[in-house]
Amino acid sequence: MCGIVGYTGKKKAIFVLLEALERLEYRGYDSSGVALLEDGKIFVEKKVGKIRELIRSLWGKQLDATLGIGHTRWATHGGVCELNAHPHTDQEGRFALVHNGIIENYRELKEFITSKGIEYKSETDTEAIVHLISLNYDGDLLRAVLKTIPKLRGAYAFAVFTAFEPGRVVGVRYGSPLVVGLGEGENFLASDIPALIPFTKNIIPLEDGEIADLTPEGVSIYDFEGNPKVKESIKIHWDIISAEKGGFKHFMLKEIFEQPRVVGDTIKGYISRDYELPFSLKEFRRILITACGTSYHAGLIGKYWLEKFVGVPVEVVYASELRYADTPIGPQDLVIAISQSGETADTRFSALSAKEKGAKLLSIVNVMGSALSRESDYTLYTHAGPEIGVAATKTFTCQLAVLFSLAISEHPEREKLMDELLKIPHLMEEVLSKSESIREIALKYTKSKNTLYLGRRLSYPVALEGALKLKEISYVHAEGYPAGEMKHGPIALIDENMPVVVVAPRDRVYEKILSNIEEVLARKGMVISVGFEGDEGLQKLSRDFMEVPKCHEELSPFLTVVPLQLFAYYIADYLGLDVDQPRNLAKTVTVE
Ligand code: F6R
Repeated sequence: MCGIVGYTGKKKAIFVLLEALERLEYRGYDSSGVALLEDGKIFVEKKVGKIRELIRSLWGKQLDATLGIGHTRWATHGGVCELNAHPHTDQEGRFALVHNGIIENYRELKEFITSKGIEYKSETDTEAIVHLISLNYDGDLLRAVLKTIPKLRGAYAFAVFTAFEPGRVVGVRYGSPLVVGLGEGENFLASDIPALIPFTKNIIPLEDGEIADLTPEGVSIYDFEGNPKVKESIKIHWDIISAEKGGFKHFMLKEIFEQPRVVGDTIKGYISRDYELPFSLKEFRRILITACGTSYHAGLIGKYWLEKFVGVPVEVVYASELRYADTPIGPQDLVIAISQSGETADTRFSALSAKEKGAKLLSIVNVMGSALSRESDYTLYTHAGPEIGVAATKTFTCQLAVLFSLAISEHPEREKLMDELLKIPHLMEEVLSKSESIREIALKYTKSKNTLYLGRRLSYPVALEGALKLKEISYVHAEGYPAGEMKHGPIALIDENMPVVVVAPRDRVYEKILSNIEEVLARKGMVISVGFEGDEGLQKLSRDFMEVPKCHEELSPFLTVVPLQLFAYYIADYLGLDVDQPRNLAKTVTVE
């Protein structure tokens, strides 16, 4: 949802900004731009399209600036055009600013600005901030920012510099992510940590209500009253290799193939009891899981496990719905917020409102130091490493690893169940070793306009996740449904042109789902099934069969989801689509 970056140091800023922007491109990619302080003047270049368009337009230009800011955009206010792309500048071109988030009161700010005779050039909310900072400037950028902040309503992170103060960049965080990178004689700002991996591993994640004042020599942090704050930096262990494609055609494919390793890493973090929570899950009247998208699907699977192994009722609610519902929530509730990024606005704010009502807040997060992890009473990390592909894959299975470990943490058969879980990474490798046959199957369905995904019990959220993957990267309409519900409506859709993907491991609802398959076949639907190897009965009923090794019945989602990720990937790749950066999407959605 827009990526921002800032640099001040000794290097040519343009190289730092472009490299960091390419790493942030997953956050938004309809247009991009940079602003540099060249010989005391602000130079701005913006382009519609991907970062490569910006790089092309900068080709051959002599840019020696050692300070600059950059932006990659996912449009919220104003169409996609160069005028609306960031950075934005003030009337005289003495201040440049990049922003991620939404300024909700920008219309009234715009009226105020234009009433001063200032021309408001773009259709964006962002432009208001840079004009206000310019109007409030009296020789000190930090003071101008401090005077401007109380006028802004909404969620934002921005970076700003002025031609009057070479060497200085100021960053502000309020509701949208921003981190500071610490270097030797250079310092950085970025929307997230992976953007800075090539440059530094020393990071200060800013909290909402903090300002970072950067020069090449140092970084000072302030609150919104201008009081200095002392902040510790954290050391990031992700290496640069894990944020590269490593020979795979797309990040998504690489991340699918990384699953055995990262799921193994995540499980390792929860084998010992060191991580133990300072409370018992059984203490609670109810567990409320809140999340969005793929993380929500992980939550749906977590519900089955928590209810089975802990015995406490669990509700799973879309974060965007929970926040404005009148759900009674109180101190007897545990809220589990699941988020890869830890920055998703819907998830953060619904979790925070539950916390304000007295619930205990536990989060499951991938990005260390992210807002949600800091706002929670307790955080359990997935150890998936950076996920660059916009479609979540490895973080989903790592979230499952945390949820399962959590669900069995107080169970008398924990050791036995942990042993079963420990087999999963190896079994995932077996699924991946059959990727070629999944590709062959996927290529038969590249012309389908619709696909139905069915599953029961644990396989129902897997069906939802399979459908989401196909929708988001292939732009094929796909719907996930509980197989038993099909007869109550969606069965009307089935004819000889409808592929129906059925997730059918041999579990307690296996016989039931075979009956559902018969219902599909009776209407001439094309059945593509995912089931346990050696299941000849299922194979006979299916036009195509994607097999996974047998595993403990509670753990099948770890394996059955993998063929569905690959199925969607191969279709999207065949169609020549931008797998890692599908249209209209952003990796981290920091607006409501
Ligand atoms: C789907 C996908 C999204 C995210 C959702 C939540 O592939 O990536 O649906 O799962 O936007 O994001 P996080 O987990 O960062 O809160």
